[in-house]
Amino acid sequence: MQQIDAPLTRCATFLVLCIGDSQDAVQNIQNSLAGVSGLIKNVSSRDNKARFACTTGIGSDAWGRLTEHPKPKELRTLPVLKGKKHSAVSTPGDLLFHIRADRQDMCFEFERQLMESFGDAVTKADVTIGFRYFDARDLLGFVDGTANPVGADLAEATFVTAEDDASSIDGSYVVVQKYLHDLASWKKLTVEQQEAVVGRTKLENIELDDADSGQKAHKTLATIEDEHGVEHDILRDNMPFGSPASGEYGTYFIGYSRKLWVTEKMLERMFVGDPPGLHDRILDYSKPVTGTTFFAPSAQFLNGLAS
Ligand code: HEM
Ligand SMILES: *[C@@H]1O[C@H](CO)[C@@H](O)[C@H](O)[C@H]1NC(C)=O
Repeated sequence: MQQIDAPLTRCATFLVLCIGDSQDAVQNIQNSLAGVSGLIKNVSSRDNKARFACTTGIGSDAWGRLTEHPKPKELRTLPVLKGKKHSAVSTPGDLLFHIRADRQDMCFEFERQLMESFGDAVTKADVTIGFRYFDARDLLGFVDGTANPVGADLAEATFVTAEDDASSIDGSYVVVQKYLHDLASWKKLTVEQQEAVVGRTKLENIELDDADSGQKAHKTLATIEDEHGVEHDILRDNMPFGSPASGEYGTYFIGYSRKLWVTEKMLERMFVGDPPGLHDRILDYSKPVTGTTFFAPSAQFLNGLAS
């Protein structure tokens, strides 16, 4: 298994790469991916207390180029969601590396050695360097990640089982979106208005009651029940990123799930709204500039890619 359940760390690098056109590039990448678990071991061992972890994801278009193994059942390119007011984007990406540690230098060192092993077989689609902001707050000022599943619920929410898809056991679907915030407008809201948007209190992070009708809060729109009334969770490891001098303030959203439809449904409820038209007000202050879906297979699967 890959360490999808690794804890939220102080630092994280989100690296999205595209694979070059040549057959040489594909072979190079197969070998490099098979070496990633060794690379993780090597970098981790430089400071075992730093909780270093990296998960690797493969995009829908890249899957068939890298392996003859059946494609995970639900894996597809992220749909472009169009609401009345806001739209999500779907952007290219063949490989995802979600690199985590309590030390920035370890994320850097892993990225350096990884890029060296890929050479010119890849091009960069996006790299975002995230950081912990106080008590795991996003740049809107709210604690982010509280409702994440833990323990047995975490495994249940994230890992594909034989019952779901026998060819993808122990893997996980991953959706990433890089959001930029309009903090100047956000700050014009009162704290009470902000709390109503998110669905939690700002200082103490206490959940507010769901609205009986009309506009729903972010946390309500992101709660998914199936037709049997069963709730389906995902695991989020969002990180803030940005540069005040450049006027850039962002949240990098990353969601792992056992069922891709759950994350896609959350996005639909946020962008289209529930009922349609009543979109997630967080989007009035947050704009996605990337959006890509991956599948993070088991570590064993990655090791077996060597050609
Ligand atoms: C601008 C981007 C986003 C920000 C700043 C943000 C922030 C937050 C905050 C502050 C919470 C409440 C605390 C918590 O439970 O973690 C929350 C909850 C949640 N968010 Fe987001 N979020 C963003 C995007 C998304 C997206 C794109 C999804 C899914 C596709 C999502 C799914 C969820 C879920 C499932 C919850 C927990 C709901 C519950 O069961 O209470 N979020 N988010
Ligand atoms: C990890 O380190 C060992 C010992 O230095 C080296 O032989 C191996 O090639 C390294 N693995 C990777 C993937 O860099």
